[in-house]
Amino acid sequence: MHESVFTVEATPLKFGPGASAEVGWDLARLGVTRALVLSDPAVRALGITERITAQLDDGGIAHEVFDRISIEPTDTSFAEAAEVARAGGFDGFVSVGGGSTMDTAKAANLIATHGGEVIDYVNAPIGGGRRPPGPLRPHVAVPTTSGTGSEATTVAVLDLVGEGVKTGISHRFLRATQAIVDPELTRALPPEVTSASGLDVVCHAAESYTVRGFETRDRPADPGDRPPYQGANPVADLWSARALEYGGRYLRRAVADGEDAEARGSMMLAASLAGIGFGSAGVHIPHACAYPIATGAREYQPAGYPDDHPFVPHGHSVIVTAPAAFRFTFAASPDRHRHVAELLGGCPIPPEEVDENTLPAVLAELMRDVGAPRGLAELGYSEDDVSELVQGALKQQRLLVGSPREVGAEDLAGILRGSLRNW
Ligand SMILES: [Fe+2]
Repeated sequence: MHESVFTVEATPLKFGPGASAEVGWDLARLGVTRALVLSDPAVRALGITERITAQLDDGGIAHEVFDRISIEPTDTSFAEAAEVARAGGFDGFVSVGGGSTMDTAKAANLIATHGGEVIDYVNAPIGGGRRPPGPLRPHVAVPTTSGTGSEATTVAVLDLVGEGVKTGISHRFLRATQAIVDPELTRALPPEVTSASGLDVVCHAAESYTVRGFETRDRPADPGDRPPYQGANPVADLWSARALEYGGRYLRRAVADGEDAEARGSMMLAASLAGIGFGSAGVHIPHACAYPIATGAREYQPAGYPDDHPFVPHGHSVIVTAPAAFRFTFAASPDRHRHVAELLGGCPIPPEEVDENTLPAVLAELMRDVGAPRGLAELGYSEDDVSELVQGALKQQRLLVGSPREVGAEDLAGILRGSLRNW
């Protein structure tokens, strides 16, 4: 029996330059009197965290700051934040940072509100798959990058270090109560960070627009078993399409000139739009390949990031396989792939001029223009690493099921080999 139902949900979003000055007002409106503010040391060093806590002071809201967020959260780092949240008696949460910070706040709020251990709630079969028994406490998410869109999703992603797999906790109750998206907070971002996070946005939007349709999934016996990533649907398409349009129009400008307020603001909005789109529809092959690509990095030191350890920014780990992945999936839905190319390129393309190389070419041009790595080789991988990367990608079944074309080990090997050099 195929699915015939999809749901429409979106995080309440407040957007605009100066919006973060209203965080105290929003917390008061939500009845918060004592908040845990989650942030990371880099955001704190930029003075952004203190800018937000000053607003809480003005609003008479007591608070503590927890800033020991790791860049790629793990079960251990989630548990540490959860313990602080549980012990402190907070009635609300504020996350100030990127996806890791917002995801950590979701998990900490869950444990503080409903008890238990992080692993109990992690998606089965890796974790217990326990569902939150009720709503969580208010959580206001204030993103400081323009990539993950975590402010708009129901998912908290974590690395299970022992298992070598990235998985998550996903449930509608994890969705932030309110997102406050203020482009002024991203002013200090180096162009390389704007570039990598913007390419993540483009992938979220392109993957969710081409992911398998919700109607191709089996209908669950219980409505509660309907997955948060339900598959492409007409409403998610709206969000993803606008994000693609913005990515094509504004990413180059935002990278070239950090003072271009229109471009930077539009990319930040695009991140949230894409977050709502992929939070509803899901992502597929590039995000499945991204995990082993990011974790296996041995020597890549990207400009614009702290150079204390080899590291592949998430946006780079995703975008490098996107051209080859969409070349592979083209045959499943040529029109959708054409739409993505049109939205990114900003002009119509006659259907008779489209083939499997059209979208990959548009993506490669964008990558080149914003200084993305040429491919896996530039990240330090060779032909010899392909089989290990395939094994890592195969563990991401929760994402691979969204591929519009059935994808196995051989196909992934072909995509990864085709991604060693994109131009
Ligand atoms: Fe992503």
